[in-house]
Amino acid sequence: MIICKSPTEVEKLRRSGRMVRQLLGEIRDQVRPGITTLELEKYVAKRLKELGARPAFKGYRGYPCCLCTSINDEVIHGIPSERRTLKGGDILSLDMGVVVDGYYGDSALTVPVGAICESAQRLLKVTEEALELAIDKVRLGNRLGDVSATVQQHAETNGYSVVREFVGHGIGKAMHEEPQIPNFGQSGHGPLLKEGMVFAIEPMVNAGGPAVRVLDDNWTAVTVDGRLSAHFEHMVAVTRNGPDVLTRL
Ligand code: MF3
Ligand code: CO
Repeated sequence: MIICKSPTEVEKLRRSGRMVRQLLGEIRDQVRPGITTLELEKYVAKRLKELGARPAFKGYRGYPCCLCTSINDEVIHGIPSERRTLKGGDILSLDMGVVVDGYYGDSALTVPVGAICESAQRLLKVTEEALELAIDKVRLGNRLGDVSATVQQHAETNGYSVVREFVGHGIGKAMHEEPQIPNFGQSGHGPLLKEGMVFAIEPMVNAGGPAVRVLDDNWTAVTVDGRLSAHFEHMVAVTRNGPDVLTRL
């Protein structure tokens, strides 16, 4: 069952969503060659304490941190570590979640470390565009397949592939609610979008093939071909006035 949220609940989700986005912005400002991903984690843990918010990821199925930091060929769920020092030319996916007043916020973006090559720039641009185009499909009368198909089409038209093993999700009083939101699918298929549904849409786009595998840490998902992967995520509510992005500042 897809839970529809009341306007009051949507405002609570916006509060959580904006907090995540604010913190992601603060982390992004600290990303530079020479910093370790553990330093980013420590910063976020401190800020969450100051803000009185609970990290959504820490303890979730045993995940050890507040933040996911996935570098280059790492797709998602990279674990912050003092052994991972960022270097110029890397791309870094930052994914985090919070719980405020019982409602979840979840968002992600991929940022350059120093100067990055043109092909990496293009991957980030196309992945973010895929998310924005998908957000524009979050309208009454559309179907969930319209959202999924849009991500896939934009990625594949540009010569990239989408990951199949990980998906977006409904979000509310739980981080993962129905429905699952794959980054591939057929337009005109799937559930009809109704007022008050809230989706975390999260394209994961690979520069090479779609295949991924999980490392021995049981978390980090990497591309099998070792090529780059990018990830962006926003929370979007269905309203009669079109898409309402709850993670927009
Ligand atoms: N954005 C991811 C998701 O929606 C983050 C989960 S990371 C985890 O599933 F550590 F919490 F698992
Ligand atoms: Co998510």
